Amino acid sequence: MWNDTLHMKAPGNWINDPNGFIYYRGEYHLFYQYFPYAPRWGTMHWGHAVSRDLVHWEHLGVALYPTKGYDQNGVFSGTALELDGKLCLYYSAVRYLRQDEEDIHIPPDDAYVTSQAMVISEDGRTFDNMGAKRQIIPVLGDESLGDAKDTRDPKVWKQDGLYYMILGSTFRKEQGKALFYRSRDGLHWEYVNQYSSPEFRTMLECPDLFRLGETYVLLGSPMGVTPPEIEYANHAMWGLADFDHPTCTLSLKGPLEYVDYGLDLYAPQTTLDREGRRVFIGWMRMPQAAADPGDGRGPWNGMMSLPRVVELRQGKLCFTPHPNVESLFRPVEGDWNQAIRQRPFRLKATLHAGEALDVCGYRIALEDGRIVTDRSQVFPHLPNHRTVAQTPALDGESCRLDVFVDDHLIEVFVDDGRYVVSHVVYGLKDRLEGPVEELFTLREDR
Ligand code: FRU
Repeated sequence: MWNDTLHMKAPGNWINDPNGFIYYRGEYHLFYQYFPYAPRWGTMHWGHAVSRDLVHWEHLGVALYPTKGYDQNGVFSGTALELDGKLCLYYSAVRYLRQDEEDIHIPPDDAYVTSQAMVISEDGRTFDNMGAKRQIIPVLGDESLGDAKDTRDPKVWKQDGLYYMILGSTFRKEQGKALFYRSRDGLHWEYVNQYSSPEFRTMLECPDLFRLGETYVLLGSPMGVTPPEIEYANHAMWGLADFDHPTCTLSLKGPLEYVDYGLDLYAPQTTLDREGRRVFIGWMRMPQAAADPGDGRGPWNGMMSLPRVVELRQGKLCFTPHPNVESLFRPVEGDWNQAIRQRPFRLKATLHAGEALDVCGYRIALEDGRIVTDRSQVFPHLPNHRTVAQTPALDGESCRLDVFVDDHLIEVFVDDGRYVVSHVVYGLKDRLEGPVEELFTLREDR
């Protein structure tokens, strides 16, 4: 099996959303949507990786796979919860209505139904896919409740002795909404309430509701945020919310904002780390598979962002690299040109109005008061993919950058996480120009 440092990458073939992210029995567990047969999306499994520190990941292979009639075509996204010392994984179970005789891994006409299911693992390492699964919410039969196909991605939590679940859904793919269920034991669930908002666009995927201090934050991935002809139309967003547990009454306090001002991050999930911080990981969408890095995993498509700590500052959600990321790097002494050939590396800089930093062909500029990034030199020429992105207007005449550079991912933290811009890149060129203040490379002595 493979190991990854800093960014968890597909162990060959295809991964998408992070799933079941949890600190359990002294380890972080990160599951993920996994198609183990080719570097493209298909019948979903849950892959599994563990880490002691959120930065060194050990891949453990497939955890969940289709075994039941209700999940025969896919174990879709969901979350983990510790219950009486056991690890419960909640997921969406997919069953296609027809079969494509030439490709059983894709639903013809996008026709399928979805129910919600769970698996109970005694130890978080072994998963009895035959014996320990149960269907907990059947396919919805009433469209005023939720969509029979597009109701998915359970996020489960415990509050005041009861268990709660939020699901993403839609009314006829016209209006996204969130459904709430409640349970006394984590096994038997009853519908409680729902909330829809034009902010959820046509469909809400991967909702995550949590509290930071006294404030509720809704994180989710609405579909149809930007025009469908440009990649990507679906984006991860956050909003402040009011939420009442007894009645499961949710309301957004204002418009949703982007989680990341790059173009690729999607379907993030949060959990509490060992110290009780709210930590976030998102899927970085890749338009093409990357080549085998030399460890035999073969072509791979899909990777995870850095683990980021989520904080509220003046009513805005900010994302900073997890403290364990800090200890991974040491300052570069000597030859910077040599250092940037080894990845990952990190650099810090201050940009003033009109200045630009060129990181191995990826351009970061402060133009008209915004950070503008351009990856056109380090990205394939694809007709529908954008290469230029920008943040909203910043406050001052200059800004601080903290940039993490890996072979296929550049993450730019602007002004201590006020904004983050993350982009997938290919074929980085060894070039570094601009106002670099400090350069760091990976610390080997760990
Ligand atoms: C988001 C998503 C989820 C779904 C999963 C399927 O990327 O579409 O809504 O559960 O991916 O792989």
